[in-house]
Amino acid sequence: MADLQRQTYKAALSWYLDAGVDIALGDDPVDRTAMPALPVVEDAPAASVPTARTPISAPAVSESAFIGASEARAESLKLAMAANTLDELREAIAAFDGLSLKRTATNMVFSDGNPSAPIMVIGEAPGADEDRQGKPFVGVSGQLLDRMLASIGLNREAEDVAHAAYISNILNWRPPGNRTPSPAEIEVSLPFIERHIALARPRLLVFAGGVAAKSLLGSGDTISRLRGTWHNYVPQTAEMRAGFTPIPAIATYHPSYLLRTPAHKRAAWADLLMLQAKARSLGVF
Ligand code: URA
Repeated sequence: MADLQRQTYKAALSWYLDAGVDIALGDDPVDRTAMPALPVVEDAPAASVPTARTPISAPAVSESAFIGASEARAESLKLAMAANTLDELREAIAAFDGLSLKRTATNMVFSDGNPSAPIMVIGEAPGADEDRQGKPFVGVSGQLLDRMLASIGLNREAEDVAHAAYISNILNWRPPGNRTPSPAEIEVSLPFIERHIALARPRLLVFAGGVAAKSLLGSGDTISRLRGTWHNYVPQTAEMRAGFTPIPAIATYHPSYLLRTPAHKRAAWADLLMLQAKARSLGVF
């Protein structure tokens, strides 16, 4: 019986997580099992009587449950700036406690592919498959990304560096229920991905989807307006700009969007051809 109850509670918790409920704790304790107080006024209107369905007010939720968002941002910046190799950066992110996403995720997702590759692709955030495997773009959208890269001769597993790709995301932990990252989560994560770019130093950058493109280009434009043209990427994190040589960057539709909206594959193909032409003109491949 106790076992059955435990399983029921576990199932309910996973369901909440999948639905995006990632904060279960408030500052003040709430006795959810307490009976609602009965009204003392005898002729109180029926509608005001609490019932089993009376919604329980949710505790206040802070964006960053471990520490405040501005403290978290200061900490991520400090850790990112102190990392001088990709391994150091990976360790610094793993030790970082400034995002509550870490508590609901199974694995941290840092990168996949060859860090010496001339082309680095940056997506939004890990999904369920990535969270399980600890690698970016390994689910269905990752399979489409692999086919897109293959269409211009790139492969994340290529031994020949010139044909290899390196892949990461703006966020290192999966947002529960695959919800869109909040502005605070992006702000806190930005120093990590920008240091990641600076340490990997790819020749060309590909931003997959609106979240990556807007965050890394510091733009409020839609992905439809940002794609189809070359940008010069410089870090949005002001402290990282000194001495940074701009990197040509292209934005394109996110593979998961293309799976839902195949009509846009034509535009994504045009973006890939632009990428290939630029890589050839730079002698990358
Ligand atoms: N979508 C992303 O943006 N990144 C992943 O790693 C997987 C899906």
